[in-house]
Order: sequence, then C-alpha cells, then structure tokens
Amino acid sequence: MGNCREIEVGGKPLVIYDHDIEPPTGSDLLGYCLWDCAITLAHYLPINARSHPLSGKTVIELGAGTGLPGLVSGTLGAARVTLTDRPHLLPGLRRNVEANAETLSSEIKVLPLEWGDDEESTLSAFGDRPFDVVLMSDLLYDVSAVPDLCRSLKGLSDSHTEILLAYELRFGTTECFKVLRENGFGWVKVGREELDPVWQSEDIGIFRVSYL
Ligand SMILES: C[S@@+](CC[C@H](N)C(=O)[O-])C[C@H]1O[C@@H](n2cnc3c(N)ncnc32)[C@H](O)[C@@H]1O
Repeated sequence: MGNCREIEVGGKPLVIYDHDIEPPTGSDLLGYCLWDCAITLAHYLPINARSHPLSGKTVIELGAGTGLPGLVSGTLGAARVTLTDRPHLLPGLRRNVEANAETLSSEIKVLPLEWGDDEESTLSAFGDRPFDVVLMSDLLYDVSAVPDLCRSLKGLSDSHTEILLAYELRFGTTECFKVLRENGFGWVKVGREELDPVWQSEDIGIFRVSYL
C-alpha cells in the first residue's frame, strides 16, 4: 500500500495515501503522490473560507492527484465536491475519500477527466457545472497541456466561478501563465500574509484566476 500521511487542516484530521503505482515514473504518473502545492492550497482553504464561505457550494478539483485540497473543501461545508484526474488515478482517489469518510461533511464524487475533452457526453457527467469553485494544484508545468486545461476550465466554470490555482515556480511556469492569458484568463496573486504562516514557501504561490 502507498505511503500514508496524516495531515490536520483547519482542525480536521485527514489521511492521504499515495497511489499504488510501481514504479512511479513518467509524466502519466505525476499524480501518484501529494505535492507541496496541494499542501499549501489545502491550508489556505480554511483561511479563504472566512471571506469566501464554501457553505452550500459546488467544488471541482482538476488534476487532483491524491485529492487533498478537494477533500479539505469537503470538511468546510461545500454541498458537493468532485475530484477529477486521469482514469488510472481514480482508485487511489476513491481510497482517500473512503479513508476520510468520517471527517467529510460533503457529498464527494470521483470522475475521470482528461483535459480538453469537452465532448458533451463527457461533460454531462459533471452535473454541477458551472461549478462555484474550481481548485487546481500544481498543474502548470507542461506548456503544451495548458490549452487543453483551459478548455476544460471553460467547460466547467463561468465568470462567477471562484478559481484557485496553486503553482510551484519551475522551468516553464512563466510560459504556462502566458498561455493561460492567451486563452482568456487573468489572475491576482494571493498575498503571502494571507496564506497560512507555517504552510507556505518562497517558490509556491496561490492565484485567484478570472475570465478576462
Ligand atoms: C504534479 S501532479 C499534481 C497533483 C495534485 N494536484 C497535487 O498537487 O498534489 C499533476 C496532476 O495533473 C494530472 N494531469 C496531467 N495532465 C493531465 C491531463 N492532460 N488531463 C488530466 N489530468 C492531467 C496528473 O495526472 C496529476 O495528477
């Protein structure tokens, strides 16, 4: 069984298993473990909820990997949370939902989503679209994937959606942001003083993304 971490966020204990994928190599396997961006975003969510309450809202996480930010939303009063990723990561995502069942107060769905698949037959599974909140953690590293990511974002949100993006500064991140803008999105960086004082780092940022 994959590595397991116990994490307390906003006073709620959560357990997050890495996926059982051996060996964890190759770009297809990037979601097998919990990344630092997800930890930073997860700890920001209870802080953000003071000014943007999640109560009764619908939330979707794209490229959820092990699903921590989405699961934290599920402890903050969201009505429904949808965790998405590529099909091979869904069993592990479901295990993390089950492992935290007693802590979660929201209905949680786990659905496959390959970015850019905007066929009506795919999107019709996402009954809550446009979602109230979209979460994206550590998805900006491959510039060629950003147009497809934007297409999915447009299919699942609208100009009223609160879109939170956590990124880690890496080679190529600046180029990814350029493509995000070319595809009609702008952003405002959340001030470091607004983030959890412990769970932040110099090379990780959180942005509020909006339609231009
Ligand atoms: C670096 S991992 C981040 C995982 C998780 N969000 C976190 O921060 O811990 C990138 C995630 O994006 C997913 N991903 C990458 N390309 C994708 C695509 N074209 N369609 C759907 N998911 C994709 C991967 O499967 C992986 O879960």
